[in-house]
Amino acid sequence: MTRLVDHDATGPVRLDESDIDETYGDIAVCRCGLSADPPFCDGSHKRTEGEADDVLYRYEDGERYPVDVVRREE
Ligand code: FES
Repeated sequence: MTRLVDHDATGPVRLDESDIDETYGDIAVCRCGLSADPPFCDGSHKRTEGEADDVLYRYEDGERYPVDVVRREE
C-alpha cells in the first residue's frame, strides 16, 4: 500500500509548559511526517531543509526525491 501525505510543515510543534512530562521532559510533536517515532519529533525534519516551495518530494531510505507525476491507483 502506498499513501501520499502532503505536509507543508518542516518542523515540530512545541507544546506549552503544562505539557512537559516530568519523566521525559520537553515534548515536540512531529508535523513533517518523517519521524521514526511518531507522534514525537526525532529530528528527522532536518532532512526537509532546502525544499523548494513548489516541488513535491518523496522521502525514501534516507534520501529525498522530487516527484514529477502522482498516479492514483484504483
Ligand atoms: S517535525 Fe517531524 S521529525 Fe521533527
